Amino acid sequence: MIERLRIQGGARLEGEVVVSGGKNAALAVVPASLLADSPSVIENLPDINDIHVLIDMLRWLGADVEFKNNVLRVDPRTVDKYNPPYELSCKMRASYYLAPVLLGVFGRARVPLPGGCDIGARPIDQTLKAMRTLGATVDTLGGILDASADELIGGDIFLDMPSVGATVNSMLTAVSASGTTCIHNAAKEPHIVDLANFLSSMGAWVKGAGTDVIRVRGGRHLHGANYTIIPDQIETGTLMIAAAATGGDVTITGAIPAHMESLSAKLLEMGVNVQAEDDWIRVRSNGVFRAVNVKTQGYPGFPTDLQQPLSAILAIANGTSIVTETIFESRFRFLDELRKMGANVRVIESSAIITGVNRLVSARVNATDLRAGAAMVIAALMADGETEIGGVEYILRGYERFDEKLKRLGARVEGVCVCERSYARV
Ligand code: UD1
Repeated sequence: MIERLRIQGGARLEGEVVVSGGKNAALAVVPASLLADSPSVIENLPDINDIHVLIDMLRWLGADVEFKNNVLRVDPRTVDKYNPPYELSCKMRASYYLAPVLLGVFGRARVPLPGGCDIGARPIDQTLKAMRTLGATVDTLGGILDASADELIGGDIFLDMPSVGATVNSMLTAVSASGTTCIHNAAKEPHIVDLANFLSSMGAWVKGAGTDVIRVRGGRHLHGANYTIIPDQIETGTLMIAAAATGGDVTITGAIPAHMESLSAKLLEMGVNVQAEDDWIRVRSNGVFRAVNVKTQGYPGFPTDLQQPLSAILAIANGTSIVTETIFESRFRFLDELRKMGANVRVIESSAIITGVNRLVSARVNATDLRAGAAMVIAALMADGETEIGGVEYILRGYERFDEKLKRLGARVEGVCVCERSYARV
């Protein structure tokens, strides 16, 4: 298994790259398939570690699952357990999407509390509130989300903030509840719309996804469906930033340009050329950037998941940028790694003040979380000399064949397998 990435900086990325299916969409859609009484076929699933963990969980619960060439076939009819094991659940955040699904199927769910990237406190109080509002008895004693309900009944869920996870869990609970549920202050991310579309194709009645009020008429019979996952918004953005960072000329295909508007606008403000049509986005840059201010927000605002990759470029922009993180406070931890490469950054409360330097230098650095890993790759692509990045397991959790895709665009990237005490090219 690859444990480190070794990157020789300075190569300009050029050419065409196809974006993979959306991780966060897939992590919501796949559990939903267990609500059906017949098999589903889900296409365009990214072949990444998080999906493999989810498949292991589905199999453990008793589902018959096949995953080949990015296509997943799930037959949920043999599912006979409602308590996935800690060893699998703790590996990713989205394991708790199984709780409302198993609650709907069995009237009981026992799901160990979610793991995932350590990017700050990640409470689940809004999910607990939503499930209780629809009639479930829920507690989290012993670190297990234990939910039960004889009957779920639709109601009004008021989320304190537009949480993606709580919106997904509210929708997944609501489809099994009789009557109408109204989710107020819902998240509007593209993956919320994708989940709604999948549920609709299974026979559910879900309206308003993509706005801040989602209505679900629950209690309908749900059948399996054939469905194609949307392209990954964050992978698209990461590739756009990587192209710009290297002064490159890259066309990303299979993308949805409308999902990328907040990033495209920021890149244009920085002096990068972004052109988009139908399902492609072309990013061209001369490697010179203007400093900009960025504030992370829920969709359609600037995504927190692209804050770290963009900050890597701002480290060499002309002038001082202010990056404000409003969603996950620990996302600035990666700045310690960026400083090792020569970045000039100070953090004041929830803002990073980044004053551009002429160049970044190579160093041995670590990915502190998934998107920090992507940011370190981008920094390494821009740096002088050879950078080695540890914590590659984080990157593999969320990006499909990231090193290969970059390599095809001209990056000098090598996977390093430390476990074998030898360095192997991949
Ligand atoms: C999802 C994404 C993650 C992305 C994030 C924000 C998945 C699998 N992960 O994470 O990649 O970075 O959205 O776009 O889709 N909060 C509470 N109580 C709750 C829930 C959330 O206080 O019950 C707070 C969180 O601490 C955070 C904010 O709400 O400050 C947003 O979190 P949320 O949207 O729930 O993020 P995730 O679903 O964990």
